[in-house]
Amino acid sequence: MDIRQFSVMFMLLLFCFQAHVLESQNQVCNSDDIGALRDFQKGLNSGIESWATADCCSWVGIICKSSLPLGLVSSTRVVGLELGSRNLTGSLSESFVGLNQLRYLNLSHNFLSGDLPRYLFILQNLEVLDLSDNHFSGLFPDSINLPSIQFLDLSQNYLYGTINPSMCNQSTNIQVLNLSMNYFSGNISGFGKCASLNFLMLDSNMINGSLPNDIFWLQNLRQLHIQNNRISGLLSDGLGNLSKLVQVDLSLNRFSGNLPDVFTSLSNLESFSAHSNNFIGRLPFSLSNSSTIETLHLRNNSLSGPIDLNFTLMVRLSSLILSSNKFHGPIPPSITFCRNLKTLNLARNPLGGQVPESFKNLESLSVLSLSNTSLHNISGALGVLQQCRNLRTLILTLNFHGEEIPTYPALQFRSLEALMIPYCGLTGVIPQWLSNCSKLQLLDLSWNYLGGSIPDGFSALESLFYIDLSNNSLSGDIPKSLTKLRSLSGDFNRLRNPSLDIPLFKGTNQYNKLRSFPPTLDLSYNKLSGKIWPDFGKLRNLHVLGLQHNQLSGLIPEEMSSMKSLEVLDLSHNNLSGTIPPSFTSLSFLSRFSVAFNHLYGRIPSGGQFLTFNCSSFEGNNGGGLFGCHRTAKEIPADFPGDVPSFNAEPRKHTREIVDFPFGIGVVAGFLLAVFICYMSGLLLPKNKKRSRRTLGFILL
Ligand SMILES: *[C@@H]1O[C@H](CO)[C@@H](O)[C@H](O)[C@H]1NC(C)=O
Ligand SMILES: *[C@@H]1O[C@H](CO)[C@@H](O)[C@H](O)[C@H]1NC(C)=O
Ligand SMILES: *[C@@H]1O[C@H](CO)[C@@H](O)[C@H](O)[C@H]1NC(C)=O
Ligand SMILES: *[C@@H]1O[C@H](CO)[C@@H](O)[C@H](O)[C@H]1NC(C)=O
Ligand SMILES: *[C@@H]1O[C@H](CO)[C@@H](O)[C@H](O)[C@H]1NC(C)=O
Ligand SMILES: *[C@@H]1O[C@H](CO)[C@@H](O)[C@H](O)[C@H]1NC(C)=O
Ligand SMILES: *[C@@H]1O[C@H](CO)[C@@H](O)[C@H](O)[C@H]1NC(C)=O
Ligand SMILES: *[C@@H]1O[C@H](CO)[C@@H](O)[C@H](O)[C@H]1NC(C)=O
Ligand SMILES: *[C@@H]1O[C@H](CO)[C@@H](O)[C@H](O)[C@H]1NC(C)=O
Ligand SMILES: *[C@@H]1O[C@H](CO)[C@@H](O)[C@H](O)[C@H]1NC(C)=O
Ligand SMILES: *[C@@H]1O[C@H](CO)[C@@H](O)[C@H](O)[C@H]1NC(C)=O
Ligand SMILES: *[C@@H]1O[C@H](CO)[C@@H](O)[C@H](O)[C@H]1NC(C)=O
Repeated sequence: MDIRQFSVMFMLLLFCFQAHVLESQNQVCNSDDIGALRDFQKGLNSGIESWATADCCSWVGIICKSSLPLGLVSSTRVVGLELGSRNLTGSLSESFVGLNQLRYLNLSHNFLSGDLPRYLFILQNLEVLDLSDNHFSGLFPDSINLPSIQFLDLSQNYLYGTINPSMCNQSTNIQVLNLSMNYFSGNISGFGKCASLNFLMLDSNMINGSLPNDIFWLQNLRQLHIQNNRISGLLSDGLGNLSKLVQVDLSLNRFSGNLPDVFTSLSNLESFSAHSNNFIGRLPFSLSNSSTIETLHLRNNSLSGPIDLNFTLMVRLSSLILSSNKFHGPIPPSITFCRNLKTLNLARNPLGGQVPESFKNLESLSVLSLSNTSLHNISGALGVLQQCRNLRTLILTLNFHGEEIPTYPALQFRSLEALMIPYCGLTGVIPQWLSNCSKLQLLDLSWNYLGGSIPDGFSALESLFYIDLSNNSLSGDIPKSLTKLRSLSGDFNRLRNPSLDIPLFKGTNQYNKLRSFPPTLDLSYNKLSGKIWPDFGKLRNLHVLGLQHNQLSGLIPEEMSSMKSLEVLDLSHNNLSGTIPPSFTSLSFLSRFSVAFNHLYGRIPSGGQFLTFNCSSFEGNNGGGLFGCHRTAKEIPADFPGDVPSFNAEPRKHTREIVDFPFGIGVVAGFLLAVFICYMSGLLLPKNKKRSRRTLGFILL
């Protein structure tokens, strides 16, 4: 039974209760019950509407049941309280001792606080108790005697202390136990008695110690969620005892040692996640026997050896995430037996070699990241991957060092929405075939050595809203066609397109979706010359425009003040002359602005966002100088709306030669993929090339 079936079960249960309500409409409720309910209401800060009449069975949220003992008067008792999501505040009084026929109590999604009343935990008939998403605090009840309980949900509260191991002495029928998202600590030994448990959710607490062996006695367990705790030690072979397991999530803990080679026994397993632990050793070969597994997520461990599973039987595998480990190559050609594979992330492993020819058969493949895997042969890679007709996201950051980007016109990625090949030191020119990728929305070719001019073809790409060509050697004019990009001129609503729902990291501790990246045109750190087209003013949907560190000349067009969405505008380090158009004060979202190191003169516009910019945004202008700047106060914080990486007003140009990426990374359990924007302190680059410190790179972790 999965969660859905469970929900159906409980809906049926509810339905039964509702039926009883009808049946008991003319019954007057028991006087003990009415007293207890009035006490309960007294503990709340606000009353509940309709809880005034004499017959409590007609009150909102009350479920009654009458029994007709043979030859006797009927008795009607309150058997359920359904008061979820009613914004109740206050605390629970101990009135529940009177409601001793209660079978169903749902107070979830309220603002109830205080300790959990002890008397709730001795209700002999209670089958369902849902107190999730409230503000209850205090310790886990020290004695629980709920012999009928099947479903207990205390998740999303402020409970702490150890989880009382003896709770299953009396509560032997419990099938669902959800204690997620609290502050429980200590170890979790003692669950062995809860033999009926189907779902055990202990994730997002502060549980530590090792995983006790009695967990592996729970032969009925279908879902085990203990992710995001501090559990350490080895993962025992006992896992193989739990043959009914469907979902296992151990991620974000401190497990060490090898993954147990027990997957042959787990014949129902669909999802196994153990990312962000300290697992070492090779992939357990028994995974090859898993014909049920759909998701295997082992990112961010220290697993090593080759990826040498026999993929022949793993026909249902749809998501394989092995990134940030120490696997060595080659990329196994037999992965193509996994015909349902949609997501493949092998990033940050020293694989080496090439993309296997057989990858052209991965018909379902939608997301592929091979970032930082020491790949070579970009021509071969693109030639093979263009045949994956459902490929939507391709991330190849940090590979192919110094190779030439292929330009043969036949390349075509029909489904591709995001293409990222930055930090590859690629030579050559920006290829014309990009304009055949008609679905392209995001393009990142930054930090390469691409020369020549920017081709005209981009304006044909109707969905393109994110272009990063920064840190290359592009020369010539900015093509006027860039001012015609439909998605940037505002009449394209990318949010309507659900296809880019790719979870990702952005900045530190933050996740986002690819499609929620700000519309961006970053051409900074190139050798572009000529003038800035007045038609840039048409890009009403553009949020970030980076043109700094080029050789642009001429005036700053007044028309740019109609770029109403602009948050970042950096024109620094060019040869621009004239004045700053006063109408720029109407750019009301502008939070970063720099025209430093040009030949501008005249008064700095005053008003609007211009009151917030630091003087460093205007310095170094030798065309007569800019005046009217007074603000030398502290720097504007880096996290401004949209949270795009900051544009450094003071560029730090210097030579780098180390491979070292100090970056902070957010921790979000359950996400299968991550695209990460990092501030890199440098990467392997020839010594003679000047680079800025500011960088923007996508790395799928
Ligand atoms: C409790 O009520 C909420 C809605 O208020 C509902 O979402 C939840 O599923 C209910 N819990 C149970 C166990 O039925
Ligand atoms: C609870 O509060 C929210 C917002 O404060 C409101 O939208 C919602 O209607 C309230 N629910 C009830 C049942 O009063
Ligand atoms: C457990 O609780 C969490 C948080 O309240 C919720 O997201 C999850 O669906 C619950 N799981 C079950 C099986 O009730
Ligand atoms: C539960 O059982 C264990 C072992 O059988 C025993 O040590 C413990 O005292 C019992 N707890 C309760 C509350 O009965
Ligand atoms: C678990 O955490 C508690 C405090 O939270 C600490 O006293 C205990 O030593 C820890 N146990 C282990 C095995 O780390
Ligand atoms: C759990 O903690 C208790 C005491 O806090 C200790 O006696 C027991 O050995 C621990 N169990 C495990 C598996 O660490
Ligand atoms: C497997 O489950 C059985 C029955 O619950 C138990 O006796 C045995 O110790 C378990 N094996 C492991 C390795 O935990
Ligand atoms: C990787 O795992 C470690 C724990 O092993 C964790 O501290 C770190 O935050 C994780 N990194 C990422 C990027 O998830
Ligand atoms: C895979 O399953 C077969 C038959 O069920 C078994 O003989 C073999 O040992 C298993 N392989 C591994 C690696 O567990
Ligand atoms: C992989 O498994 C299939 C089916 O179990 C078998 O026929 C094939 O020989 C295996 N391949 C290798 C390389 O072991
Ligand atoms: C690239 O991979 C190497 C080794 O696999 C690692 O040391 C380095 O930190 C990685 N760089 C990035 C940016 O992921
Ligand atoms: C690159 O890959 C293509 C296609 O897989 C292959 O034909 C070519 O020989 C490869 N080139 C090199 C230098 O390995």
